[in-house]
Amino acid sequence: MSKALITGGSRGLGKSIADALALKGWSCTLVARDEPKLKDTISKLKDPKQHNYVPLDLSKPELIEDAIGPLFIGKDYHLLVNCAGKTDRSLVVNTSITELQSVINTNLTSSLILSKLAAKAMMRRKINGSIINIASVLAERPMVGSVAYVTSKAGMVGMTKALALELTRSKIRCNAILPGLMETDMGEMVNSKLFDQLLQGDVKKDVVDLVMFLVEHESITGSTLTVDNGFTVR
Ligand SMILES: NC(=O)c1ccc[n+]([C@@H]2O[C@H](COP(=O)([O-])OP(=O)(O)OC[C@H]3O[C@@H](n4cnc5c(N)ncnc54)[C@H](OP(=O)(O)O)[C@@H]3O)[C@@H](O)[C@H]2O)c1
Repeated sequence: MSKALITGGSRGLGKSIADALALKGWSCTLVARDEPKLKDTISKLKDPKQHNYVPLDLSKPELIEDAIGPLFIGKDYHLLVNCAGKTDRSLVVNTSITELQSVINTNLTSSLILSKLAAKAMMRRKINGSIINIASVLAERPMVGSVAYVTSKAGMVGMTKALALELTRSKIRCNAILPGLMETDMGEMVNSKLFDQLLQGDVKKDVVDLVMFLVEHESITGSTLTVDNGFTVR
């Protein structure tokens, strides 16, 4: 059975990705902070006993190696999806340095540390694995009030390309998906009037389908794929 580690797997996009993987027979490890929510999500996946979770605050980089490293020992993980995310809530000049760091740590630093740990484990066990980073269209089209978020997501795009380059020899792939607005807890915080002129496709569903496509297509690495109802060309 193929194994996947999905951060932010407790709700929103990460939960939908876990759902799709479980339906295809994958075993999922979900990482997020809210333990009751993680338990509840696992109980609703296909074959709940095949899945597990790790409650962890990814805004604290110093905790990640001890919490996640042991998971990879003796286990064949084929996929890491860095999906946990957090946004800014105010203009950069009004945001505390602690809050700016929390956004960068949750979105970018945790993804870098987890990618390193997962890639090392895949190399050790000679697995042709895959890393998928959930970035954002805001990496390319910033909006006011999102400086730390945009910084983190643009960082994920650069990280994806650099990781893909380093990991190609080990046949480990790394790609990024840049979603536009999705109807999740995070999406509800955005002023949706900005999106009135766009196509009205289901971005979350299409991102999930794209994750499944990327998992199965071994020639794709170092790519950044946009799913945004036309936001970036408006
Ligand atoms: N929604 C959109 O419109 C949109 C657009 C573009 C990109 N994205 C990206 O898509 C990804 C998924 O977002 P979403 O819309 O599904 O958001 P969401 O519904 O708010 O879910 C966020 C997930 O991340 C986890 N998380 C947040 N902070 C965390 C922390 N410090 N440590 C561990 N886990 C943490 C949450 O679980 P806990 O709260 O339990 O920790 C939850 O599982 C994010 O990377 C986001 O930036 C979203």
